[in-house]
Order: sequence, then C-alpha cells, then structure tokens
Amino acid sequence: MSLIFNRLRTRTPAAAAPTVGCPYAHTHTHAQAQARQAEPTHAVRQPYPTEPTHTAQPQPLPGPQPAPAPPPFTDPGQAADFVRQFHREQPAAGDPEPRLRAVLDEIDRTGSYRHTPAELAYGARLAWRNAARCIGRLYWRSLMVRDLRHLSAADDIAAECFEHLRLAGNGGRIRPVVSVFAPDRPGRPAARILNQQLVRYAGHRTEGGPVGDPAGTVLAARARDLGWKCAEERFEVLPLLIQERPGERPAWYELPDDTTLEVALSHPEHHWFADLGLRWYAVPAISDLTLEIGGVRYPTAPFNGWYMGTEIGARNLADADRYDMLGTVAERLGLDTSSDRTLWRDRALIELNIAVLHSFQEAGVTIADHHTESERFLKHVAQEKRLGRPTPADWSWIVPPVSGGLTPVYHRYYDPVDPALRPAFVPRVPW
Ligand code: ARG
Repeated sequence: MSLIFNRLRTRTPAAAAPTVGCPYAHTHTHAQAQARQAEPTHAVRQPYPTEPTHTAQPQPLPGPQPAPAPPPFTDPGQAADFVRQFHREQPAAGDPEPRLRAVLDEIDRTGSYRHTPAELAYGARLAWRNAARCIGRLYWRSLMVRDLRHLSAADDIAAECFEHLRLAGNGGRIRPVVSVFAPDRPGRPAARILNQQLVRYAGHRTEGGPVGDPAGTVLAARARDLGWKCAEERFEVLPLLIQERPGERPAWYELPDDTTLEVALSHPEHHWFADLGLRWYAVPAISDLTLEIGGVRYPTAPFNGWYMGTEIGARNLADADRYDMLGTVAERLGLDTSSDRTLWRDRALIELNIAVLHSFQEAGVTIADHHTESERFLKHVAQEKRLGRPTPADWSWIVPPVSGGLTPVYHRYYDPVDPALRPAFVPRVPW
C-alpha cells in the first residue's frame, strides 16, 4: 500500500551557517575513485624570457609585462566537443559550423554561452548515457528534461523540486526526470541544494542509539540548526535545504504531503513483516551532483530514475551503517544466528528483498528487480555497440549487491571508465 503522509510546509529565513562542503557520499562499500572536476586554473605568469645580448654592457631590465588573459570561464574546447557531438548524433540539427562559431563568439564576449533547449535536453540525456555506475541506462533517451534555467531563487527552486517529485512520482508510474536550474555564470555561482536526494530520511543520535537513517544525520543536524523541528522518528523526511549564494544561510522547506510517495513494506508470506514498520520512498532523486554539458556547469539539476529493489533491500535497510535490519529480520524468521556459517544474514537479506519488491508492486509503484535490470543493461550495451559507441561501466557498481553471479552483468567486463568523459553528472566543486 502506498502512503502519503501529511507534513507541514514551513520556511524560515535565519542566521548564517557554514556551508556543508560535503562531497557526494554514495554509500557503496567499494573504494570509489571520485572523478574530481578540474577547476579552471588561471595561467601562471612566466618569467620574462632572457633576451640574447650582443654586448657586454648590462642591459636595462625589462619592465613588468601584462599577465596573459585568464582562460574564459567556460572552456571553449569542451563547448566545441559538445556542439560537434550534438550535431553528429542528431543529423537533423544540420551543419555544426554556424553554431560552433556562434558559441565560440559568445564565450569570447561573455565568458560563457547558453545552450539551446534542444542542446540542453540532449546534453542531459548524454550525461545519463555516460553514467558509468548506472545499470538503468537503456532508457536514456526517455529522460524528461525540465528547462528551468530562468530560476535561481531558493523559493522558486524549492517549488519546482516539489513539482519534479510530483511529475516523477506520477501516481506510482515513475518517470525519469531532470530539472535544470540556472547554471554557474561568470561571477555568479548558481544556487545549490544541500540535500543528497530530494527525498531522504533524517537520522539522529539518541541516548538509546541511532534513530532513522544514519545517512541523513548531518543534514538533519544542519536543518535543526536552521530551525527545523524534527520528531526524531525512524522514517522522517528531511526538509529541502537550498543555499542561494556562498556563505549565505540556507533556506529550508518542508516537503508538501503530495510530493512524497512512500511504500509500507510487507512480505507475501510472513505476515509479521508488516509489524516491523519499515517503509521506503518511491523516487530516488539525486540532488547534489553537477550536470556538466559542453563546459557549462549546472550544479542544481536534480534527477531521478526508478529504484532497483536491491538498493533498498540490500543496502539502505540492510547495511550495518544504515538501517541495519538483518538481525531483526533473522530473529523474526527464527534463524540460527550463532554462526556466520548458517548464512542467516543471507537468508534474512533475501526475505527483505522479497518484501521490497512485493510491496512496491502491490502499491503500484515502479521498481525493478536485479535480474530484469541486468538483462536490460546488457541490451543497452549491445545496442550502443551496434551504433559504434562504447558503454563505459564500473563493474563494482553495475553488479547487484545480491546474487551477483546469478545475473549476466557479473560474467563480463566493460569498456573502461573515463573520468573526463562529458556530458556527465559530476561531484560538485565546493564553493
Ligand atoms: N542508491 C540510492 C538510494 O538507494 C539511489 C541512487 C539512484 N538510484 C536509482 N535507481 N536511480 O537511495
């Protein structure tokens, strides 16, 4: 059954707080080489070259020379690569040369350039296609791209994030959506959403132990500092925190009740399972990555797909540093937990994953199982190959955390990951 919970919508302006500066912290256990965005480096002034002297007389020292102009805010090389790729893959867009000239001229004059709506939409879809950790890329062409580049105020961003969740949730038929807000411009960095995802649960350290999602502890503390009143419940949706400018106090917004579709978890055979009171939200919408297209950075571009069951059942609810539910589930199943060799964790894990898939299905909320999603991914790889394109993929993220060897994605390797590949969703550069 899907549940929609009532929440008050509030917003407080308040006193200055430090920026979080927290990199995108995905809780995957494998060591991840994080592709760091290269900050544009300003050319270092070279020492004045020595002139050949034809006389023994000391020459007057040359006076100070003007420093070479700093490189433009937006890298023209990146811009040109993207414009060429756009025209190559979309022959209907015609000859790239006039557009190329216009873009380079705009960068010359203003330091940056504006994408056409078609470039933005295609660039965002390419960023998904290039996401080496994502198993769900078969549907990259279907991404709904919301062009909200005219918006940069926190109130407007919050309102459109809520609309994003409504459109993506779509009554349970989840749609992949990205909402693209104003980019970084020369001298005018864009606003940022401080949450890792638009919907996530708060975590708290209490005397009786941790409550809620430990992955939501830092943000919950930050929100409380800003004036958010939390109930310290196990599944309490965090408010949205939006910071308009560096050093400014973030504004916070409680999510309206019609934005947050959640599913209460039950098990098809074990009726006691529902009594555990577990649930999860329907729309995983990553909100702390920068969408980078053709050298333009969009730090506020939340995007979502639909869940694969194992993300919830084998990680969020199972990891020891998340909801850590395997012991409880094993106990209710009456398993022998005296030794690792009874595989009680593995058995509890499977029942938990069955409950997740069953409950979403019963609630009419889109969710994929890892077998189906693995097959779709290999279909995508094959399709791209036919088009003459590689599919860079990170094996350790593509292989599901349950029954890896039962899925076909386990039994092969992939094209190597290139951290410089663009367009891409990349970790945000701290302010
Ligand atoms: N693994 C993250 C979570 O459990 C979500 C990452 C994106 N997942 C997706 N299916 N698009 O919340």
